[in-house]
Amino acid sequence: MRDKLLNTFDGDNAVLDFLNPDKAIYTPLVEIPSSLNPYRNKGVRIFAKMMNSLPLANIKSLPAYNMLFKKKLDGGLGGIDTVIENSSGNTIFSLAVIARIMGIPHTKAICSHQVSHGKLNLLRFLGTEVIVNEEPICPDPSDQTSGIYKAKVWAKDNNWFNPGQYDNEANPDAHYKWTGPQIWEQTGGKISLLGVGLGTTGTVVGVSRFLREKNPDIQVVGVSRMQNNPVPGVRTNNLLRQIAFDWKSQINFQEDVGTVESFKKSMELCRAGLFVGPSSGFALVGLLNRLSKQDLSSGEEKIVVFICPDSPFPYINEYFEYLEEKEFPRIENEQLLKNYQPPILKNQQTIIPVKELSPREVYNLIFSEDEGVVWNKIKSKQKYPLNSGYRIIDLRNEEEFEDHHIPGTEHVSFHDIDIKLKKDKKLKKEKGVIFVCRHGNTSRIAAYKAVQFGIKAINLQGGDAEWSRLNLPRIRSEKCISRFCL
Ligand SMILES: Cc1ncc(COP(=O)(O)O)c(C=O)c1O
Repeated sequence: MRDKLLNTFDGDNAVLDFLNPDKAIYTPLVEIPSSLNPYRNKGVRIFAKMMNSLPLANIKSLPAYNMLFKKKLDGGLGGIDTVIENSSGNTIFSLAVIARIMGIPHTKAICSHQVSHGKLNLLRFLGTEVIVNEEPICPDPSDQTSGIYKAKVWAKDNNWFNPGQYDNEANPDAHYKWTGPQIWEQTGGKISLLGVGLGTTGTVVGVSRFLREKNPDIQVVGVSRMQNNPVPGVRTNNLLRQIAFDWKSQINFQEDVGTVESFKKSMELCRAGLFVGPSSGFALVGLLNRLSKQDLSSGEEKIVVFICPDSPFPYINEYFEYLEEKEFPRIENEQLLKNYQPPILKNQQTIIPVKELSPREVYNLIFSEDEGVVWNKIKSKQKYPLNSGYRIIDLRNEEEFEDHHIPGTEHVSFHDIDIKLKKDKKLKKEKGVIFVCRHGNTSRIAAYKAVQFGIKAINLQGGDAEWSRLNLPRIRSEKCISRFCL
């Protein structure tokens, strides 16, 4: 039983009722402060739909509940003791808990080998068995080596249930049934623009379908991530082509957003009291980009909403990986910490200067021919001469490196950088050694270490993401399998 006013649940089914979206109070819709809304004085009012307020703290708990519930209604859960899904994030966290409450004791997660140990531990914490599969974080559903495909086959062979969020209609249906109607009611039907991140696209398909049935003039911005810009839960335009749901017909505009701006905006929202994760910052940036292109000169009130899928907690380490150190307060007496490593301090006091160069400056150092010529040589598999005296070290993971890298680069894992700097005596003799990582922060630490070895270290500002954004020459390793497209 539940008391809606007091929001209490009791009795044998208390927890199941608590997790049942039909019995829940609406997740909050909160107007963001003017300090985060550059269009407030033009009449635009921006609201955050806080799906982090759901009992399992994430939006995927709605499709997870609906996929299990529909299967149960169809009588399909009889005799099933295991749920298997390809996910390392919110979907499997939610399935793990809801399935157990519905009487299915085991969950198995097929996860990409690129997932962090922290994420896997979160799954193990919830009692889920983890199976690592060699595949990109956003796999191609039609690829027979993908976890999505394997989950389908293994479920069939073993009488397990594979919800299959990529093509199960109960995924978008959940948002048609719950998220869409809530937004419609909470805005009094006045919503005119919606911003949603695109992952499986279940959210956009369900919410947009509901809202546009109510008012076909409502516009929807689908937000995808820029290439080589990781943001948890969402896909690049290339990766969205693999999705079977008809998300294209449910959006009016598409905006591409990058990693750093997403994490930064999410942190700003958190600091302003809205405790939402990176893909929420991502959706807001996409919405703001769209608003910057619209004519708002009439000053008429315009109600816009963006969807906040979850909280920052599962990603806390990633904020420190992607954002610059200057974004965070310093730790006083950090050297007293037990595991303190002083890579950037010399004589306990002075920060060793590292040369920071932009991608174009690095390009001009290492190539004497212009970009078009180098690209043509790469395409026709000719040699591409690097200027002598320079070396490039790429610290991203092996699959990222194999997918693409700057010509002439060697791959060294960040874990091995100390050994490399110690053993490779030739590095000291070079005119410059350029360090590359995803966004230029890890490479800065490696460059600091290199300077201590007397190496003329250069940090590539903005890392591979910026180099790729400028479309500067990149090559793919021979051994790279094309399915590792990032
Ligand atoms: C954190 C996060 N943001 C956004 C999304 C995208 O939602 P959808 O899969 O409905 O497109 C997901 C999906 O897994 C997610 O986990």
